[in-house]
Amino acid sequence: MPRAKILVTGGAGFIGSHTCVALIEAGYQPLVLDTLVNSDARSLQRVGCITGLQPLLLRCDVRDGAALDRVFAEHAIEAVVHLAGLKAVGESVADPLAYYDVNLAGTLALVQAMGRAGVRTLVFSSSATVYGDARHSPIPESAPYAAVNPYGRSKAMVENLLADLAHADPRWGIACLRYFNPVGAHESGLLGERPHGPPANLMPYISQVAAGEREYLLVHGADYETIDGTGVRDYVHVMDVAEGHVAALRHAAREPGILMTNLGTGRGASVLEVVCAFERASGRRIALRIGPRRPGDAPAYWADARNAQARLGWRARRDLDQMCADSWRWQAANPHGFDDPVPPMQPPWLGADLQIFHATSNLGHSNA
Ligand code: NAD
Ligand code: UD1
Repeated sequence: MPRAKILVTGGAGFIGSHTCVALIEAGYQPLVLDTLVNSDARSLQRVGCITGLQPLLLRCDVRDGAALDRVFAEHAIEAVVHLAGLKAVGESVADPLAYYDVNLAGTLALVQAMGRAGVRTLVFSSSATVYGDARHSPIPESAPYAAVNPYGRSKAMVENLLADLAHADPRWGIACLRYFNPVGAHESGLLGERPHGPPANLMPYISQVAAGEREYLLVHGADYETIDGTGVRDYVHVMDVAEGHVAALRHAAREPGILMTNLGTGRGASVLEVVCAFERASGRRIALRIGPRRPGDAPAYWADARNAQARLGWRARRDLDQMCADSWRWQAANPHGFDDPVPPMQPPWLGADLQIFHATSNLGHSNA
C-alpha cells in the first residue's frame, strides 16, 4: 500500500520534525514545506535516521499561493498539517504586521490553495496562548478568547477564519490543536530543539545551564501564589504532541466540521519542579537566581485534557521525568544542535518495514 501523502508546513521546525516522525511511524508520507526561516534542513535527515524515511523538503513560503498551487498539482496530497508560523511573543509585539502576515495571511493563502486543489482535511497548530491570562485552571476549550499579544491574537483569528470556513462548506474537516507547553525531544537523542541565540523558554534554557553553556537560570519571579512561588505550566512532551497530530488527522479525515482541542497533560509543574526533575535526569546541578516577574507572564495554568481524550482518543503518555531525560539526551549528544554529526548508532526503534531511505538529494529541492 502506498503511503498517503501529507503536506506538513513548517515541518523542519521543532514540533514539525517530531510530527514527521509520528506521521511516518503511523504509515503516512510527510512532504515538508518550509522556508527554513527558523529551522534547519538537517532536522529532516535526523527524521530519516530515526524512521528510515527522509521527508522531501519543498522550500517555499506558505504565503505564496502560486507555489502552493504547484505543490498540490505535482503531489497527490491527501491532507495538510499546518505548523508554519512565527511564534515569539515579544517579537510579535514589536512587529505585529509580520505576525498577521505569516500566521494569518499565510493560513488564508494555504486554505485557498487547498480549496482550489480539492484538499479539505487540515490540522492547525494553535496555542493555549489564545486563552490569554486565564484565571481558572484546568482550562476547558469553552474558555473565551482572551489573547494578550499579537501572536496570540493571530492564532485566535486563524481559528475564527477556519471555523467560518468549516461552517460555510461542510466538505472541510479541520482540527485546531491548542498546545500548552511542548518540551522534550525524541527519545533517540537525534532530534530536538535548538533555538537561535539565548533561549526564551524554560526547558531549553535549563538544558544549556546543565551543559555548562550558560551560568545560571534566572527564575522569573518566586512570589506568585503557587506551590513554591514560581510560575506553573502544563509541560507536554513533544512526541505526545506529535502523536496528537496523527490522532487529529484521522479525526479530521473522517469527521467534517471543526474541532478545537487542547493538547496538554492536565497537570501543572512549577519552575522549581522542572529544575528538580532536570537535575534528577541529568545528574547535573542547575544553578539559579531568583529575578523579578517577567512582564506578561501568567502565574499558573494547565489544560483540561478531557476533550482530546474523548474526541481524539489521545492523551499524553510521557511524564515530566521523561521530558527532562529526553531533553538532556538531545542536549548532551548535540551541544551544537544540528551542526553535530549524527551519532553513529543503530537505533533500536527503527522498524524493519521502514528501512528504505529516500534520496538525500531531495533536500534543498526548491519549488519556487
Ligand atoms: P518552529 O519555529 O521551530 O517551527 C515553525 C516552522 O515554520 C519553522 O521551520 C519555520 O522555518 C517555518 N516557517 C516560518 N514562516 C514560514 C513561512 N512563511 N512559510 C513556510 N515556513 C515558514 O516552531 P515550533 O515550536 O515547531 O512551532 C510550530 C507551530 O506550533 C507554530 O505555528 C507555533 O506558533 C505553534 N505553537 C508552538 C508552541 C511551542 O511552544 N513551541 C506552542 C504553541 C503553538
Ligand atoms: C511562552 C509564550 C507562549 C508560547 C510558549 C511556548 C510568553 C508570555 N508566552 O509560554 O505564548 O506558546 O512560550 O513557546 O512568552 N521561566 C523562567 N526563566 C526562564 C524562562 C522561563 O523562570 O529563563 C519561567 C516563566 O516565567 C514561566 C515558565 O518558566 O513561568 C515557562 O516559561 P516559557 O517556557 O517561556 O513558556 P510560557 O511563558 O508559558
